[in-house]
Amino acid sequence: MTEQTVFITGIASGLGEKVADLSLAQGHRVYGCDNNKDKIRDFEARHANQKVEVFFCDVSDFPALEKVFQTVCEKAGRIDSLVNNAGMYLGKPLSTYDDALIERAIDVNLKAPMKLSLWYADHVRKNGDRGSIVNIASVAGEVGSSDAVYGSVKAGVIGLTKSNAMNYAPEIRVNCVSPGLIEDTDIAREIPEYRYAEYKRQELLDGGLNCESVAGVVNFLISNNARSMTGAIIRSDNGCYPR
Ligand SMILES: NC(=O)c1ccc[n+]([C@@H]2O[C@H](COP(=O)([O-])OP(=O)(O)OC[C@H]3O[C@@H](n4cnc5c(N)ncnc54)[C@H](O)[C@@H]3O)[C@@H](O)[C@H]2O)c1
Repeated sequence: MTEQTVFITGIASGLGEKVADLSLAQGHRVYGCDNNKDKIRDFEARHANQKVEVFFCDVSDFPALEKVFQTVCEKAGRIDSLVNNAGMYLGKPLSTYDDALIERAIDVNLKAPMKLSLWYADHVRKNGDRGSIVNIASVAGEVGSSDAVYGSVKAGVIGLTKSNAMNYAPEIRVNCVSPGLIEDTDIAREIPEYRYAEYKRQELLDGGLNCESVAGVVNFLISNNARSMTGAIIRSDNGCYPR
């Protein structure tokens, strides 16, 4: 298999780390960013001497994000895939958000993937390459969420995927993974108990939903096996809320 280069936001733990692990296992070179210094340190300890480099950056700090992305472009040259994974979930009612928090949730979950996709598409096209973007949405963006801000931004990620599939064809495939409740994540630990139970009650498959199984779908979408797919919203959710 030829080596690919993958850039992943929110790489240091959760789903992002598993996408990195599967990519590394396939022989790919991985770059990523994360806004948690402790998690980066632990990630680096777990991945010593592997083909992965992580930059400290909050994806909502757009000048810093652009700098990181440009650095990766210079180091890597060709970047085969961008995975817009970093997300922010607070699990609270809209009435408890102030304007600044709404802005931040929009910046992290939606504006950062927009900006990165734009820079990524410019880079790929300038080099005459081909590429792929995978955005991470959520079942919450399809069926709604008790957290209206999260439900709204994740619906936006689905819209962004479909729009960019049109805008960046034929050079760049743009797809989306829409996970259900992933049990081994910090987000799952934040979700109100009654909502957690409701998601689990809805799942058709047993065995739990973990980062590794969702990462498998992400890695399929960035692989050549998905070369005919663009604009797709692929669910990885044990069949919860069949839709
Ligand atoms: N966990 C779930 O149940 C679930 C379900 C559906 C969708 N998702 C989506 O999947 C993606 C990954 O979720 P997760 O559960 O692995 O998340 P997580 O909260 O565990 O965070 C993953 C990583 O992203 C980093 N990160 C968070 N905010 C960041 C920011 N502003 N800038 C840079 N890095 C940041 C964190 O430090 C962490 O290392 C998110 O987009 C999330 O919305 C998660």
